[in-house]
Amino acid sequence: MKKEKLGAKTFLYPMPTVLVGARVKGKPNYLTVAYCGIMNHDPALIAVAINKAHYTNRGIRENDCFSVNIPSTALIRQTDFCGIFSGARVDKSAVFASFYGKLKKAPMAEECPVNLECRLRQIIPFSVDEVFIGEIVQAYAHKRFLSGKMPDIKKIDPILFSMHDYSYWAVGRRLGKAWSIGEKFKIKPR
Ligand SMILES: Cc1cc2nc3c(=O)[nH]c(=O)nc-3n(C[C@H](O)[C@H](O)[C@H](O)COP(=O)(O)O)c2cc1C
Repeated sequence: MKKEKLGAKTFLYPMPTVLVGARVKGKPNYLTVAYCGIMNHDPALIAVAINKAHYTNRGIRENDCFSVNIPSTALIRQTDFCGIFSGARVDKSAVFASFYGKLKKAPMAEECPVNLECRLRQIIPFSVDEVFIGEIVQAYAHKRFLSGKMPDIKKIDPILFSMHDYSYWAVGRRLGKAWSIGEKFKIKPR
């Protein structure tokens, strides 16, 4: 099969859309982040890549903690707003009602269905971005977004992001059970 070469680009689909929260100069600040991923299961480590010029970074450094907040599609305008305007110019502290957990200094957005409270573990600098690795010390969710004790993706209705069409997307249909559906696959000789 002949494939087109697209260059060394970050074509990963889908990307999450999260809000990273940090307290800068004593006030909550949230920025929108698509470069976010889980690094380790136990301890629970999460990484966010943030441009070195952004305002939030200094708050993460100041307090050694941050939060990762998962907005639902109903929060699309607030989420985009936090990705357009920098806290250096606009006070974003009232975009969400903030609450605090055991670390005391990582603001979390009340309106977001799921919040991950993170203790800063490591900063890895690259050319443009720096990656903040946080240890998730507590996860929070409103009861209405759970099925049993687990967050329910349908109820959360998270915002997906596609970088190269600059668009937000919603979660589609459920395809099947993981660690199960593959059992029916039979390898054919080539
Ligand atoms: C959908 C979307 C995704 C974004 N993803 C990232 C990202 O992964 N890393 C980053 O540094 N900036 C990202 N940005 C840009 C920042 O959110 C934006 O520059 C923000 O205003 C910085 O806020 P701050 O200066 O208050 O920290 C994204 C923006 C949008 C709209």
